[in-house]
Amino acid sequence: MSNLAHGGTLINRIDLSVDTQSLTKEIELDAFALSDLELIAIGAYSPLTGFMTEQDYQNVVENMRLANGVVWSIPITLPVSPNQAEQLVVGDSVRLVQNGTVYGILEITDIYQPNKEREAEAVYRTTDLAHPGVGKLFERPDVYIGGPITLVKKPEKNQFKEFYLDPQETRAVFAERGWKTVVGFQTRNPVHRAHEYIQKTALEIVDGLFLNPLVGETKSDDIPADVRMESYQVLLRHYYPQDRVFLAVFPAAMRYAGPREAIFHAIVRKNYGCTHFIVGRDHAGVGNYYGTYDAQLIFQQFSEDELGITPLFFEHSFYCKACGNMASTKTCPHPMEDRVILSGTKVREMLSRGEAPPAEFSRKEVVETLIKGLEKTVAIK
Ligand code: ADX
Repeated sequence: MSNLAHGGTLINRIDLSVDTQSLTKEIELDAFALSDLELIAIGAYSPLTGFMTEQDYQNVVENMRLANGVVWSIPITLPVSPNQAEQLVVGDSVRLVQNGTVYGILEITDIYQPNKEREAEAVYRTTDLAHPGVGKLFERPDVYIGGPITLVKKPEKNQFKEFYLDPQETRAVFAERGWKTVVGFQTRNPVHRAHEYIQKTALEIVDGLFLNPLVGETKSDDIPADVRMESYQVLLRHYYPQDRVFLAVFPAAMRYAGPREAIFHAIVRKNYGCTHFIVGRDHAGVGNYYGTYDAQLIFQQFSEDELGITPLFFEHSFYCKACGNMASTKTCPHPMEDRVILSGTKVREMLSRGEAPPAEFSRKEVVETLIKGLEKTVAIK
């Protein structure tokens, strides 16, 4: 597998020297859009160079491809209100701002009205507003603005600064370590034993593991990113070979789009320099909107060449008391009663009560860090 970025070139749309004073119009960015702006600019979303044009958007929604045929599964859009859209004209260059700070500029090529019902159905496989991704889609304004962007200021990082690396930088780290093959791991949760098991199983066949937790916007009952970051560092310190693992954050928002998001997650990790990507059970899923392995099945729709990253699929993993070790539905012959399986919701409830999940489920150092971190979070709130 080659080490090229998706679409062939690693995009860089950062130019901190651009003077935005002369521009009169501006668009206010929400947290979602600001994180997308930065991810486009640093090349994590290569080959995207801006917010999607109508043609790219339509193709992505209907065919999971950009207009030029390159695979892309999630719309990356800039929504504005109809009122604001009336002030904008194709050909305008506008400032992209948040709370008075200018972060970028956008040259408007498209102003269009999406069919959100259709977007929800195609991307999320549901129009149910209770789905957090669909809820977000409908909560954001109704007109989309497309066109190339330039990032003129990097958003400030208030926490775990040293873990923000651009794709160019992670690629340099992997090269420096001599890793020819690197497996990427997406997560929005603490790393429990099942995650550790699939990561290390993958690590048996590649040179390095890129632990790349998503730290952008997540739903309110997910464990906060700062607490998770502590727990990853503790886990790596105690249980992983330091020269085989690298931790950096993925500052994107979670879409909870299950299968489509798995493709997106894989492509982005390719841009960060990974050759392999882990997809386990219910990847990027929420509730019962997707089948357990739908996020694996969707990969059959694309050739490995056009994806340019090799997915590694894992079945539901757990600790089995009868086996006396970690296993999966593929490798363990024993009945459910022997398996230590807890739902995410159950674990979050236990942790927030200060109660420790069993050692077979989660490492004690991880549990201690999470309980301490969540106590602090509650105290602050
Ligand atoms: S996700 O929304 O980021 O996918 P999570 O952090 O729970 O959620 O999962 C990270 C990765 O681990 C995903 O690829 C997911 O499919 C996989 N995974 C999580 N738990 C298990 C498990 N018990 N068995 C197998 N794979 C798992």
